[in-house]
Amino acid sequence: MKILSIIGSGRKNGNTALVSQLIEQQLSQDPTFDFDYEHLYINDYRILPCIGCRTCFNKIEMFCPLKDDFLQIKSKIDKATLIIFATPVYVNDVSALMKLLIDRLAFATHRPQYFAKYAFVVATTALSNPRNAIRSLASAINVWGFHLIGTQGLKLKVLPDEEKIQAKYNKTIQKITAKITKIIKSNRISSPTILKLAIFKVQQNYWKSQQKMLYEYNYWKSNGFFDSDRVYFSEVSPPKWKKGMAGLLAWIINSVFM
Ligand SMILES: Cc1cc2nc3c(=O)[nH]c(=O)nc-3n(C[C@H](O)[C@H](O)[C@H](O)COP(=O)(O)O)c2cc1C
Repeated sequence: MKILSIIGSGRKNGNTALVSQLIEQQLSQDPTFDFDYEHLYINDYRILPCIGCRTCFNKIEMFCPLKDDFLQIKSKIDKATLIIFATPVYVNDVSALMKLLIDRLAFATHRPQYFAKYAFVVATTALSNPRNAIRSLASAINVWGFHLIGTQGLKLKVLPDEEKIQAKYNKTIQKITAKITKIIKSNRISSPTILKLAIFKVQQNYWKSQQKMLYEYNYWKSNGFFDSDRVYFSEVSPPKWKKGMAGLLAWIINSVFM
């Protein structure tokens, strides 16, 4: 099982990288958990900022005119079972390196494709609340289709001190790894929440109403996402009450926000 930890800090010896290493160390304490862990530093790759040409939406990401290393990272994401998205907080949000990657993956908001994969979000800050950074990442990850196992913010000093961080956050790291191992060992993609079902319905109605020549329209159609009995990307059958609540929420989202 492949775990890919994507680190959005330029500091290879910084806090975020250290937290990623501590997670790896803690996971390897469990002899029954077999995994291959890769630390991917976005800064090691050349990722250009999205220029908004929409080629990835209208055609496919392979045709993106930006010639850089994005597809290498995408291919690693595609091969991993769990992706840990780890960012330092910069001015109350994700780092620019992480945002570069988020924007380049924007096509996955139109063509969700990661519903068989797990994700975990880590955000490290000096002092302030990491909630905005976590929200930015979590909302993208949810729409891309991932099963989000959990999120964790850690308030750390600027200069990493492995011993102090370990002493202070030992329990937190154990909590993160316990969640990860429990869910991955059970091979359980939990049933989608009411919000996820509602978002699926909003997207389904939207793409259905679009022109048939659109790449997105065909993506949704060829994957069976327009089928009348389809309520989510994966073939799930939630209870009637949940479907009803999701339908109501989808109606509210459509009326108020669209
Ligand atoms: C450009 C920049 C902006 C930052 N903004 C914040 C912030 O808004 N709130 C905060 O608590 N820490 C902030 N910090 C501190 C980092 O979030 C914190 O030290 C983080 O753990 C650094 O991770 P790293 O060592 O992996 O780069 C900032 C640091 C930098 C370099």
